[in-house]
Amino acid sequence: MTVNRPRVGIVREVATGERRVALVPKIVSGLVSKGVDVIVEEKAGLGALIPDELYTDAGATVGDPWSADVVVKVAPPTDDEIARLSGGQTVIGFLAPRNADNKIAELKRAGVQAFAVEAIPRISRAQVMDALSSQANVAGYKAVLLAASESTRFFPMLTTAAGTVKPATVLVLGVGVAGLQALATAKRLGGRTTGYDVRPEVADQVRSVGAQWLDLGIDAAGEGGYARQLTDEEQAQQQQALENAIKSFDVVITTALVPGRPAPRLVTAAAVEGMKPGSVIVDLAGETGGNCELTEPGQTAVKHDVTICSPLNLPATMPEHASELYAKNISALLELMLVDGKFAPDFSDQVLADSCVTRDAEPVASEAKGN
Ligand code: NAI
Repeated sequence: MTVNRPRVGIVREVATGERRVALVPKIVSGLVSKGVDVIVEEKAGLGALIPDELYTDAGATVGDPWSADVVVKVAPPTDDEIARLSGGQTVIGFLAPRNADNKIAELKRAGVQAFAVEAIPRISRAQVMDALSSQANVAGYKAVLLAASESTRFFPMLTTAAGTVKPATVLVLGVGVAGLQALATAKRLGGRTTGYDVRPEVADQVRSVGAQWLDLGIDAAGEGGYARQLTDEEQAQQQQALENAIKSFDVVITTALVPGRPAPRLVTAAAVEGMKPGSVIVDLAGETGGNCELTEPGQTAVKHDVTICSPLNLPATMPEHASELYAKNISALLELMLVDGKFAPDFSDQVLADSCVTRDAEPVASEAKGN
């Protein structure tokens, strides 16, 4: 008797600027060796500079990925993409379950089982699947490079025959995964680094990457390792304290997020005005409105002689490594679903139960999940 091998489809991303791909050839060969057939859409890897031949060398077939048992993606599916799916199929990717315009109801109507990587629990066992973290690392790193290239000043201290240059002072506001990577990268470039967060437990992590901890005395640790929203009073106190602190920094990188809420406003217009001309702000929270009052999401603008950059989807600008890391996350999730040579998710497993946002054509409390 022939046993049908489970099939995974890798699609070519269509979102503007999205250069990542959900699986890379090295990971594909691992899946093939575990008994999975992989179908890759023509040119799916081109944005990440991966030609189709590398996928076929790894054991994949070029074809229609939308017919596979499990379709793996990076960006949330568009309406056209959902129309290519049918009942009983599974889709995995960033599904933005907390965004008001998410497509989970459409996926449910199509009878598709969907797993949102944003809703994977932040537990030790699931770290290998944690796509929020893997991509936040890319964003934190790239934010520093952007800041350095926009800056009118050096990051490192330089002693030259023509004089000595002081190191740049870099403040990172919001030290989760992206912020910690930003601090580490800025330090490697020679900056003098300081970190700030409303979760006091972050102080030791900040110091562990050679940065100073800015203590403003506000504790807003929330649930699941995330921050809670500040009260109006706390926010006013924080904005005032930051306005005073920010003046002495050449570079401010902001990454502060509260799940399901608009980005907290940390840097006021007055704080920008107080910075030295030529300073730089990189605001990574542009997708949810920005941490800086003068941020224009997706734009770089100069206000009060301060350059304010708010890049969207930074991980897509480093598609090679961002895809490699994401592919590892996705394959770990796929392997968790693979039981006796079939994709048969066991929903008694917390990782699968939490990340599944529609199942058996029912939404699974999607509004309570992920970012
Ligand atoms: P995030 O992207 O939700 O937020 C970024 C940072 O902004 C957080 O550190 C948050 O505390 C901070 N923030 C929010 N409001 C703020 C405000 N008003 N002022 C200043 N800072 C503010 O966070 P991310 O990077 O997703 O990390 C969330 C948690 O998950 C962290 O505790 C992290 O250590 C944890 N984590 C756990 C993992 C695990 O497996 N155990 C893996 C990865 C992350």
